[in-house]
Amino acid sequence: MNKILPAYDVHPITVKMLRKGHPWIIKDKFTEKFHPRDRFIVAKDRRRPFALLIHDPRHKHVKARLWATQGDFGSKIKNFRKDMVQRIQKAITKRKQKNILSERQNFYLVFGEADQLPGVHVQYLNGELLVQFYSYFWDAYTDYFIDNLLKTTNKVLGLEIFKGNVWIQHRADGDSKQQKAKSLDPNISFRKVEVQEFGVNYNVELGKHYDCGLYTDMAAIRRVLAKDFENSNSFLNLYSYTGAFSLFALKHGVQDVVSVDLSEKYLEQLEQNIALNEELDPSHHKSMAMSTQDALQKLKEEKKKFDLIVSDPPSSSSDGNKRTNALQNYEKELPKMKDLLAEGGKLLIFLNTRRVTRNKFESKINDIIKKNNLGLKVGKKLGLSDDCPYLKGFPEGAYLKGLVLTHD
Ligand SMILES: C[S@@+](CC[C@H](N)C(=O)[O-])C[C@H]1O[C@@H](n2cnc3c(N)ncnc32)[C@H](O)[C@@H]1O
Repeated sequence: MNKILPAYDVHPITVKMLRKGHPWIIKDKFTEKFHPRDRFIVAKDRRRPFALLIHDPRHKHVKARLWATQGDFGSKIKNFRKDMVQRIQKAITKRKQKNILSERQNFYLVFGEADQLPGVHVQYLNGELLVQFYSYFWDAYTDYFIDNLLKTTNKVLGLEIFKGNVWIQHRADGDSKQQKAKSLDPNISFRKVEVQEFGVNYNVELGKHYDCGLYTDMAAIRRVLAKDFENSNSFLNLYSYTGAFSLFALKHGVQDVVSVDLSEKYLEQLEQNIALNEELDPSHHKSMAMSTQDALQKLKEEKKKFDLIVSDPPSSSSDGNKRTNALQNYEKELPKMKDLLAEGGKLLIFLNTRRVTRNKFESKINDIIKKNNLGLKVGKKLGLSDDCPYLKGFPEGAYLKGLVLTHD
């Protein structure tokens, strides 16, 4: 093997995980030996090089990510830029083949590890590109990445996007620093765009908050649920944010829609979103600016029932008093949601975190159902799909998990 290659031993568990398709190398005593100046790492298994990794010494937790397991790693490093461009082309071509643009103006062009571009997500938002870097590795390649992303997007999708429409957001710090997206045009700090998803218009705000106002990773799930909304007369949207599910319900003719969110600001945005859509009747919608706990109690006192309930909590939240995580909250909230579920209704519950696997989520929900004698059963499973693919053997990549609960 070529001596100049930065080859290192990695933990035997890392070897096993990499071989099973898990593309992250988590901080341990082996990663401590990686030289901070090595951009690439060749991982060895009993002296034999078996994986080429991109190195991220600054990341607190994920120290390297898988780039390749095949080929000559020396030439792979030399050809890194060329490979990167090919992967961008492949990712965008896949989206073109799915013809997503005909149904919505928000979709992922690149979804990180599952598109072999580890730590990079790119969203198309009606003429704007939001590029999110989850790894500092890409700092050294940002310009090259963006140039080729623009070229490829315009060519493959037949669009005319310019540098001034590109927004970069650094997310490698996790949620702790909550950095906003920055425009590549130094004269622009903020832009509001209208984005259409399945015939409904939403405001998206770039450069203003950490999140842009519409969760694109939920779009494919909304589509799958269209029939359930069509068949419902009443809908309760818990943790509604700016109301994507609520507007989707109104669009599908649901007569009684209630949205609950702790944030008055998000509910205001929700109401502005309804106003953007002339055909949606705001009199069919009610906002409740309070915690989900309080709303569930209030709705029970009012003897309300709903055909469909969605609960999509943040991974951890605070009701103003104490911080709890979403899985714990279901212990208290699921029985109360059940009280509000109409005969024959459906409860759609989500968990949005990399830290809990689908199996753990499901078994916890089954425990809660059993313990409280809820008379519910777990049906269909919901998760990332279409423009948001995930890898087998990489549960962290399949962070969005949903379950459909019905009466037993
Ligand atoms: C993940 S977002 C929901 C996204 C939404 N389902 C969608 O698809 O657009 C979580 C929302 O929960 C709200 N939230 C956080 N804690 C809450 C609580 N205790 N009660 C009600 N809403 C809460 C936040 O303000 C945020 O808008």
